[in-house]
Amino acid sequence: MKIAFVGKGGSGKTTLSSLFIRSLAATGAPVLAFDADINQHLGTALGLDDAEAAALPAMGDRLPLIKDHLRGSNPRIASAETMIKTTPPGEGSRLLRVRESNPVYDACAKTVELDGGAVRLMVTGRFSDADLGVACYHSKTGAVELCLNHLVDGPDEYVVVDMTAGSDSFASGLFTRFDITFLVAEPTRRGVSVYRQYKDYARDFGVELRVVGNKVQGHDDLDFLRAEVGDDLLVTVGHSDWVRAMEKGRPPRFDLLEDANRHALDLMRTVVDSAYEQRDMERYMRQMVHFHVKNAESWGNERTGVDLAAQVDPGFVLGESVTAPA
Ligand SMILES: Nc1ncnc2c1ncn2[C@@H]1O[C@H](COP(=O)(O)OP(=O)(O)O)[C@@H](O)[C@H]1O
Ligand SMILES: [Mg+2]
Repeated sequence: MKIAFVGKGGSGKTTLSSLFIRSLAATGAPVLAFDADINQHLGTALGLDDAEAAALPAMGDRLPLIKDHLRGSNPRIASAETMIKTTPPGEGSRLLRVRESNPVYDACAKTVELDGGAVRLMVTGRFSDADLGVACYHSKTGAVELCLNHLVDGPDEYVVVDMTAGSDSFASGLFTRFDITFLVAEPTRRGVSVYRQYKDYARDFGVELRVVGNKVQGHDDLDFLRAEVGDDLLVTVGHSDWVRAMEKGRPPRFDLLEDANRHALDLMRTVVDSAYEQRDMERYMRQMVHFHVKNAESWGNERTGVDLAAQVDPGFVLGESVTAPA
C-alpha cells in the first residue's frame, strides 16, 4: 500500500513518517520510503548521520535514468524527453515492485538498517530556490510520482512518502496516488487550515484522508482538534521523549518508544491495511490519465512538442496481475 504523510512545515510529518517506517520495519515488513518533503530530513530521522544523509543520491538528478527504465519498450513513449511526471504506464512499460532490485533502486535507493529490519530509502534531493518556482520543482517530486505510477505494491508491502502539502501535488495529481493520506496537524489554527485546504482538493477524488494530531497535550488540545476536524481525526500523538533523544543523535532502541505512541502507530497500520482493501485500480488509472491529460494541455505538449495524450494506453490497468517485461 501507498501511504502519504502531509501537513504544515514543522507539524511532524517527517517525525511521524520515520516512526511509522520504524514500526513497520520492526515487524519485518518490506518498506520503500520516499523523502519528497521540501526539507529533506527523512534520512536523518531514520538514523543516518549528516554525512550519510548528504551522500544520498538525489532522484531529481537521475530523472533521465528513471524515465528510460520505466518507459521500457512502451511504443507510446518515444523517448525519455517526452516522458513527463504524469506519463502513465502502458503495455511495454517497466513496473517497479517493492521487494525486487532494479536499476532505479540501484541508482537512487539506500538501504537503511533499523531495529528489526532494513528499509529502502529514496530522496528527491534538496530543493533549491529555483525549484520553488514551477517547472523544476515539478521535476523533483515528479521523480517520485513517476515511481508511484509505475509501482505494483501488494497488501503486505509498504510505500511511505514524506511530502509537502503544496499546490504542486494538487496540480500534478500526486495527492491522489495513495491508499491513505495522513495529515499531520498540530492543534493550532494553521495546522487545521492546511487540513481544510487538503480536504477541499481531496473530496472530489475520493482521497482517503485521516488526521493525526501531533504535539497534543491535554484535553484542550484534543477538544480543539475534535471540534475542527471531526471524524477525520484518527489519533493523536503527544510529545515524545524518544523522539527528543533521537534528535540528540542518541536513538534509543525502538521497542522503548512510549506505549501511547506505539499504540497510535499500530492504529495507523490497521487503518492503512484496511484502506488497501478499498483500493480501486481502475479509478487509480482514470485519475492518472485525468491529471496527465490536464498537465499535457497546460504545459507538457508545449514543452515537449508532442501530443502527450497519445501516451495513454486505454486498456492498461496497473495491478498485481500485470507482469513487467524482462
Ligand atoms: N511527537 C513529537 N515529540 C517530540 N518532538 C517532536 C514530535 N513531533 C515533532 N517533533 C519535533 O518537531 C520538529 C519538527 O518536526 P518534523 O517532523 O521535522 O516536521 P515536518 O517534517 O512536518 O516539517 C522536529 O524537531 C521534531 O523532532
Ligand atoms: Mg519534514
